[in-house]
Amino acid sequence: MAERRKIIIDTDPGQDDAAAIMLAFASPDELEVLGLTAVAGNVPLSFTSRNLRIVCELCGRPDAAVYEGAEKPIARPQVTAEHVHGRTGLDGAELPEPTMTVRKTHAVDFIIETLRREPEGAVTLCTLGPLTNLALALEKAPDIAPRIRELVMMGGGFFEGGNITPAAEFNVYVDPEAAKIVFASGIPIVMMPLDVTHQLLTKKDRVAKIAALGTRPAQVLVDWLAFFERFDVEKYGSDGGPLHDPSVIAYLLKPELFSGRECNVEIETRSELTAGMTVVDWWRVSGRKANARVMRDVDADGFFELLTERVGRL
Ligand code: RIB
Ligand code: CA
Repeated sequence: MAERRKIIIDTDPGQDDAAAIMLAFASPDELEVLGLTAVAGNVPLSFTSRNLRIVCELCGRPDAAVYEGAEKPIARPQVTAEHVHGRTGLDGAELPEPTMTVRKTHAVDFIIETLRREPEGAVTLCTLGPLTNLALALEKAPDIAPRIRELVMMGGGFFEGGNITPAAEFNVYVDPEAAKIVFASGIPIVMMPLDVTHQLLTKKDRVAKIAALGTRPAQVLVDWLAFFERFDVEKYGSDGGPLHDPSVIAYLLKPELFSGRECNVEIETRSELTAGMTVVDWWRVSGRKANARVMRDVDADGFFELLTERVGRL
């Protein structure tokens, strides 16, 4: 077994973020979750913070270290996605309000302090939402960049286009300036774009296997997915919706499920028409230096087998 990885999860729950967090907590032999940081994204920070704590308690982890981060993007008005995730961001299942509290430290300072405390190259960052918290940390403490083992981020798209505009994927679109800072930072990046996550559809037979687990966490996840997928099923006419964020955690657990290549990725921040577009030089025509390992293919059945088996452990 590979050594146990120390990770920080930065997230804007979101039903698909919840699935990713469940997968991480269900894998304690492989992953040590040092902390989880909430960012405004799918819904405002007050809800992403609440939702993050709801997911921690659902997973039996009221002890988890939860921190609140940025309430809005670095330089743009907040854009949210209630049309996908519902008013609360976790619509679809009725759960009690969380009783666990957030830690006093700001998420940006938690990220900085943890990276300075832990040995160089020991901590992997997993971002499931806009990159605002990480970008602010890199701006405030540039010394942390070489200390990061790698960043595995859900965001961007290329062959698949965008999902919030024709050109841009939501996480990058919400805060393109943050994404630009992160992709220019020199940290090793693994990018999970829509090109991968649109292959991870919550098909009926896949969801049925999660429901068959018969546990409360599994049933809550099934209820969340039933709500979450309806927007994309309507939009794409597909069997199920794309389960974006767990791809980040699955990559840490079984990287062999994924394939991609080192590419240059630049972020559009000036154009109104294509703001937030991730310009992926897949065919290496620009001569620009590769700054990310961009994933393009995934074993979707293998991914859902992993997710189902692990959720069954909660
Ligand atoms: O575009 C999909 C991404 O935006 C996912 O992380 C989803 O949770 C939203 O944050
Ligand atoms: Ca997310």
